[in-house]
Amino acid sequence: MNVLVTGGAGYIGSHTIVELLNYGYEVVMVDNFSNSKREVIDHIKEITNREFTFYEGDVSDEAFMEKVFTENKIECVIHFAGYKAVGESVEKPILYYRNNLNSTLVLCDVMKNHNCKKLVFSSSATVYGKPKELPIKEDFPLSTTNPYGTTKLMIEKILEDIYHSDHEWDIVILRYFNPIGAHESGLIGEDPNGIPNNLMPYIVKVATHELECLNVFGNDYDTPDGTGVRDYIHVVDLAKGHIKACEKLFQHKGLGIYNLGTGIGYSVLDLIHAFEKVNQVTVNYKIVERRPGDIDACYADPTSALEELGWKAEKNIDDMCRDAYHFAIEQNNMLR
Ligand code: NAD
Ligand code: UFG
Repeated sequence: MNVLVTGGAGYIGSHTIVELLNYGYEVVMVDNFSNSKREVIDHIKEITNREFTFYEGDVSDEAFMEKVFTENKIECVIHFAGYKAVGESVEKPILYYRNNLNSTLVLCDVMKNHNCKKLVFSSSATVYGKPKELPIKEDFPLSTTNPYGTTKLMIEKILEDIYHSDHEWDIVILRYFNPIGAHESGLIGEDPNGIPNNLMPYIVKVATHELECLNVFGNDYDTPDGTGVRDYIHVVDLAKGHIKACEKLFQHKGLGIYNLGTGIGYSVLDLIHAFEKVNQVTVNYKIVERRPGDIDACYADPTSALEELGWKAEKNIDDMCRDAYHFAIEQNNMLR
């Protein structure tokens, strides 16, 4: 079966392609490398020992997407392509709305023209805003605090409307919690340009002495140790969730929305300490002011994904810390 993966050279997309190839799917990847590197393609082939089709181009480019669909018999699509940096989205809202919304609209239009109506979409726990209760269930109220989050919420709504207009569509919306870690080979992982915004990539750069000290944003939150609590999920577990989502599409169940998280919340200090212990390194940190817009705690109720997709996260916090560090060491070795 042919699966089109948009944004397949990115962090989550590359791990998902590895799982798809391992499970025997045929893959067509589209990426414009706006936030990824070409060598990812070779690394995926090296890990899986499998070939796949690749197109360089923009999902918002209708003529290009027509060509991709004409040249391949695509049966389902996993749509990762989009911009994801919260801070940048506040500074450049037009860029975010244009890329994230246009790419999705063009993709859905071309899919419809080619009678391909099976789609998995990457949404985010950010659509829950500041949750009133924990753990978070899929039917909780939705709200957003930045343009990036709003693009996710708007796309969810667009996909619901598409489904309501034509019940031949099968759509799975996956709301990811906090993906971290890397493939155990050390060949693919998260490799942000410049100074990272997210916690795990920052910890890694402090551990490898590329950055001096981690700023822990606040220790006066309403959490057991005062630092922010999140539901960190290993990217390989997340990738496997997409295989289950694809299987679900072929059961013709219509529209489904699922949290992908472990259901466990770890604080910033928990993550630092686990990282230090499993990798036998020191992570220098200091407590600083809260980061504007951050919430105290956020973790999933992943029951629906278990009951309806048959998916459950299997890797633990030590696996996440070990694999993230291993990837960074391998990257640095390659650059030497
Ligand atoms: P990423 O930036 O590593 O991957 C996105 C990929 O899409 C990149 O390779 C980029 O080059 C490509 N891309 C962007 N716009 C494109 C376009 N118009 N045409 C073609 N390619 C394009 O991000 P990721 O962490 O792998 O995230 C994948 C998806 O999951 C995104 O939609 C993101 O918003 C969502 N998500 C990510 C997280 C997270 O913490 N990483 C959490 C929740 C949701
Ligand atoms: N943190 C620090 N120091 C840092 C970076 C983060 O203390 O240098 C803290 C934050 O305050 C927060 C926790 O670490 O308590 C996690 O922060 P991240 O930036 O890693 O992740 P967020 O939960 O803020 O947001 C991420 C993505 C969002 C996505 C959300 C849910 O950036 O796009 O996960 O999937 F919506």
